[in-house]
Amino acid sequence: IAKNIVSYPVGNIVSASKLSSTSSDNQIFKAILNEEYNSITAENDMKMSAMFDGPGDYDYEAGDAIVAYAKANGLRVHGHVLAWHKQQPAWLGTFSGTDEEFETAVLDYITNTVSHFAQEKMTVNDVEVPVVASWDVVNETFESGATDNVLYQKIDDFVAKAFQAARAGDPDVKLFYNDYGIAGDPGKRNSIITMVNDFKSRSIPIDGIGMQMHLNHNWPDTDLPTSIQDIADTGLLVHISELDVKVNYEEDITELTKDRAAEQEAQFQRAAYYYHTLVPAAQQHGITIWGFRDQDSWLYDNNTDWPLLYDNDFNYKVSHRGFINGLKG
Ligand code: XIL
Repeated sequence: IAKNIVSYPVGNIVSASKLSSTSSDNQIFKAILNEEYNSITAENDMKMSAMFDGPGDYDYEAGDAIVAYAKANGLRVHGHVLAWHKQQPAWLGTFSGTDEEFETAVLDYITNTVSHFAQEKMTVNDVEVPVVASWDVVNETFESGATDNVLYQKIDDFVAKAFQAARAGDPDVKLFYNDYGIAGDPGKRNSIITMVNDFKSRSIPIDGIGMQMHLNHNWPDTDLPTSIQDIADTGLLVHISELDVKVNYEEDITELTKDRAAEQEAQFQRAAYYYHTLVPAAQQHGITIWGFRDQDSWLYDNNTDWPLLYDNDFNYKVSHRGFINGLKG
């Protein structure tokens, strides 16, 4: 059982609709969630597209349902994600007010959302803690084309202002920058570290870095320890925030006959092992897996990949054994 092995949280993703569903599949999903994990991230329900209906117009219903479930079951919530150039509401791109009005609307949304979700508390080991412990404030700013988005075009110094707006919503919640490719792209890694140093020099609040960790079965040996060490060296919290391991990375259908279970097992083990051994305990925000059954994964794509820990009947795959062995250190 993943959560019982380590002192930091082990998480997975949820949706409000699955949590409220009484289908037999979703009963199994919830049983596994509650047994094996102690942290959850909303796969989509707490993104701008789900919550930001217009200036001053917010829809927190699905997020609230997730937080209520977490509170009732003693799970930590990691908020995901306040601002991203993807999964935006359509009105954001067609907003006809001034840039100043746009900036006010977006930053108010960030502040209000953090403040709203800071209200629910629960008791863990006799200590009262907020249910929503942390937020991804900004996602993937270093992706090519990201800064063409309206958030960056209309708001000068957008990323820093987003972090300040989040901090204005709550003084204590942990604020993360979240990105993919941190392990595989040293240039992006350096850009993130430069941004963190810039934030520190300008007193812009930032508490942690989310390494998404969308890996594949033949991930190079040295990338994981090097990148995890580099990110840990910032002194910030480190969250493996979206771990999955593709086995059909080349998307070559003829490769489907190859058995890559052992390679996938090894990659899950390595990710957990290097996190476990290289990130100092005080900086361990946890490891979050991005899904349960293979067929529920965003990468499954009509049965062309199987990136997760459970097969389509919710049975453990050998990748689960790899993950558990990695957590054991
Ligand atoms: C994905 C979800 O899993 C999909 O359901 C959705 O259609 C698209 O977004 N990086 C992130 C996550 O930060 O929010 C993305 O989640 C996966 C990539």
